[in-house]
Amino acid sequence: MDESHRIRPARADDMDRLGEIEVAAGVGFRDLDMAAIADDDPPTAEVLAGYIGDGRAWVVTDETDRPVGYLIADRVDAAGHVEQVSVDPSHARLGLGAALIGAAESWARHQGFTTLTLTTFAEVPWNAPYYQRLGFRVVPAAELGDGLRRVREHEAELGLDRWPRVAMSRPVAAPAD
Ligand SMILES: CC(C)(COP(=O)(O)OP(=O)(O)OC[C@H]1O[C@@H](n2cnc3c(N)ncnc32)[C@H](O)[C@@H]1OP(=O)(O)O)[C@@H](O)C(=O)NCCC(=O)NCCS
Repeated sequence: MDESHRIRPARADDMDRLGEIEVAAGVGFRDLDMAAIADDDPPTAEVLAGYIGDGRAWVVTDETDRPVGYLIADRVDAAGHVEQVSVDPSHARLGLGAALIGAAESWARHQGFTTLTLTTFAEVPWNAPYYQRLGFRVVPAAELGDGLRRVREHEAELGLDRWPRVAMSRPVAAPAD
């Protein structure tokens, strides 16, 4: 991430922009014949407002303070859980996704969590293989906590398991000196 980008908590007046980012970030799925994912509705304003109100939503902004990526996080099984991370393709591959995950990690650390988790598509290049490069490892199905298992069951009900999906986790790093 260069000096023109900054991470800050998301605000209510960012919400329309977050929807735009989500739609733009979904376009890559269409090229993989995953149009249902590309067409998936972004989180509703009500849902986003809940994350923002609870301090669990962050944006990365450009030099004009316009959000170009965002992340929302949950608490699942006493771990920080990345519910969604999206970066506008016009700002892709600049390390912004990794920086947003770093923000979620800091939050998780302050919550006293020692683990960061997420669920993602196993075979989409910018999903599980990307997270693996960021230090996440697949959690075997037999080792899922109750909360993460419920997340996976809900995703299956939504039809996301038409493509292989996995839960992943990484330890929360110690704070930098
Ligand atoms: C996943 C996502 C947030 C990554 O954001 P980002 O800011 O581009 O990520 P970073 O700059 O930190 O890392 C870039 C790495 O992601 C991977 N990546 C990103 N876009 C990719 C693409 N189109 N094809 C293959 N790999 C890609 C690569 O490993 C890349 O590293 P490289 O540039 O050295 O090859 C972004 O691709 C996105 O919004 N995707 C759509 C939404 C999504 O899938 N969210 C995750 C759901 S679990």
